[in-house]
Amino acid sequence: MTNPVWTGRGRRVYLQEVGTRDGLQAEAAFVPTEDKVALVNALSDAGLAKIEVTAFVSPKAIPALRDAEQVLREIRRNPDVVYSALVPNVRGAERAIESRADEMNLVMSATESHNLANLRMTREQSFAGLAEVAAIGRSAGVAVNVSLSCAFGCPMEGDVPVETVLAWCGRYVETLGAHGVTLCDTTGMAFPTQVAELTSAFLERWPGTELTLHFHNTRGIGLANVLAGIDAGADRFDASFGGIGGCPYAPGASGNVCTEEIAHALALMGYDTGIDLPLLLAAASRLPALIGHDIPSQIVKAGRRLDLHPRPADFDQIRARALARPMAA
Ligand code: COA
Ligand code: ZN
Repeated sequence: MTNPVWTGRGRRVYLQEVGTRDGLQAEAAFVPTEDKVALVNALSDAGLAKIEVTAFVSPKAIPALRDAEQVLREIRRNPDVVYSALVPNVRGAERAIESRADEMNLVMSATESHNLANLRMTREQSFAGLAEVAAIGRSAGVAVNVSLSCAFGCPMEGDVPVETVLAWCGRYVETLGAHGVTLCDTTGMAFPTQVAELTSAFLERWPGTELTLHFHNTRGIGLANVLAGIDAGADRFDASFGGIGGCPYAPGASGNVCTEEIAHALALMGYDTGIDLPLLLAAASRLPALIGHDIPSQIVKAGRRLDLHPRPADFDQIRARALARPMAA
């Protein structure tokens, strides 16, 4: 990948679906394997550039994704789509490689507090684990992406210095040989000017590395952050169909930015996302029945901008009455 160049209208923006992992892992309901497979196939047909299909984590920790092997085995592979999976450790890497994942997505946090709270390890311990997994990926010829949680702020430590984030990115790119890095706004703390600063700094230092921005819409700033990222040169964004994710008991509270909302807005602005919006909407519309609750997606609720509504049934009478009224002097 070369450094994305601003070409104005028609510029390619890659949308990467994470709903089947970041979204479904948070759901109380177990979505049946055949439905997961059907959703991934529908998302492939809808034109997503990459799909994080599942996670090779402990089935006790995340029972919702305990069918990871079967899902990857049964999906229809579209050669234009990268099928990625989250991998927390060596065991996960072995399972992902065995299941022919195209890419392994490794995770750690930018702050010590969040890394300890979430992964029960110090950041250095996590990095050592990532290095082991990256080496396995290299010898198996499977691409490695590293996701850095809390890159835009930590719910326990607050602001994270830009230099801290960049120092970790440097170790992923230069020491681990990661082909991609994802800067994650895990708890919705990012804001547009900050996104622009971090994106520009990253692209300046590692123009050949695939950069993804991963936002949650926790505080309603998600789409603004995507637009700020695009203006600063980013061209890859994670998003979840239906806007799912976060706490299953507070739907919409902290889901990822919504794929169809981003695709809809970017299409209006003339960007080339490769997304077939009706197909994506059809996939998202299946979610409420599968997860047992409403979804945050505004586009599923309101329709697209030019999905017009019929005039009222008595429109002719309304017009006749209006025309019969004398004009104000
Ligand atoms: N795949 C399958 N099983 C795994 C596994 C993997 N990748 N990693 C660990 N396990 C199993 C172990 O076999 C063990 O099972 P047992 O209790 O039957 O013996 C159990 O999980 C605990 O393993 P341990 O090595 O002690 O690891 P841990 O408890 O430190 O687990 C994680 C660490 C992170 C792998 C595990 O907690 C996990 O998968 N968590 C989910 C993380 C996640 O997806 N978070 C959300 C996205 S960031
Ligand atoms: Zn996330």
